[in-house]
Amino acid sequence: MKGLILSGGAGTRLRPITHTSAKQLVPIANKPILFYGIEAMVAAGITEIGIIISPQTGEDIQEAVGDGSAFGAEVTYIPQHDPLGLAHCVLIARDFLGDEEFVMYLGDNMLEQDLVGFVAQFHSRRDAGGRQTAAQILLAKVDDPRSFGVAELAPDGSVVRLVEKPDDPPSDLALVGVYLFDHTIHTAVEAIEPSERGELEITDAIQWLVDAGHEVAHEVLQGWWLDTGKKDPLLECNRLVLDSIERSIHGEVDDSSRVEGRVVIAAGAKIVNSTVRGPAVIGENTTITNSYVGPYSSVADNCEVTSAELDQSVILAGSRIANVARLTDSLIGSHVVVDRVGHVPAGLRLMLGDHSIVELE
Ligand code: DAU
Repeated sequence: MKGLILSGGAGTRLRPITHTSAKQLVPIANKPILFYGIEAMVAAGITEIGIIISPQTGEDIQEAVGDGSAFGAEVTYIPQHDPLGLAHCVLIARDFLGDEEFVMYLGDNMLEQDLVGFVAQFHSRRDAGGRQTAAQILLAKVDDPRSFGVAELAPDGSVVRLVEKPDDPPSDLALVGVYLFDHTIHTAVEAIEPSERGELEITDAIQWLVDAGHEVAHEVLQGWWLDTGKKDPLLECNRLVLDSIERSIHGEVDDSSRVEGRVVIAAGAKIVNSTVRGPAVIGENTTITNSYVGPYSSVADNCEVTSAELDQSVILAGSRIANVARLTDSLIGSHVVVDRVGHVPAGLRLMLGDHSIVELE
């Protein structure tokens, strides 16, 4: 079985963070979202992985993932010039995939559940004889299904209909961004037409399989799942992952500092006259001075937090937070400076990128 990870697209929903980097590389507990997907595949025994990249994401993703050997995988990059849809990704991955079964994984999705059981279920269904399962989808109950693909099941549990982002959802069962396919999907993606939004939808390709009489099986998700492409789900995902970290201190903590609970302090980090209350992670070579870093915070590598308080926030690499009374529920990009300079007359002096959001009290 091969793996196909979709990490193309332009990432408009996480702007401005993704103006300069791929949304799949935004870190959760200081590890890029995409790495969790690659690790889940390798843990399920899938080591031949194709990654779809776009002109906007390609360079960063290739630099971060390399040839995949760091993960025990062999990665093939498949460039997609325009985000023409999830089914278009399958179309352009045809040579890489050949006729093998594959798992398709959306690079901005994070799942608590691993892939081992999901893949095993597909194999046992296919080995069971009878009608071959051509696809297996993963479904999760959501409060508002309108921004997802939505599945309608028959009373016997079989999948009868799939619709992409419907105004009037036929159920509350959303398609999670992990799919298993056999070679039949290649016929389906060639047969469908672009949707109203101009994309070749994988949802339509799976509907094509159903209509052509192929077996489409489903599993219901265990545990949490997040489509991390927006700020609040991303912070929530960060909280969920931090909830399962173990304490490990590699950096320096001076005598006047307190590190409480499950905190990761990476090598080269320095905690000076500060309190870090877990769950929290502090990246390599980051310095926290005269500050409080509260629960559910991830501060990436090479940051500087000085005379500041923060909690429930994700700070990307190389940023400086200084003299701020309390930063909360925030997502701060890389190489950002947030500082109170105390000039008179008082006033906000801002230099913000396009699409930035500043919420003042
Ligand atoms: O997150 C689950 C949902 O993902 C499903 O419920 C929907 O049925 C499915 O269509 C998809 O919807 P999204 O609108 O969230 O997909 P998005 O455009 O965010 O793309 C998902 C990933 O695939 C993301 O990592 C970018 C990548 N992608 C997307 C497109 C459209 C590509 O690599 N190429 C593309 O052409």
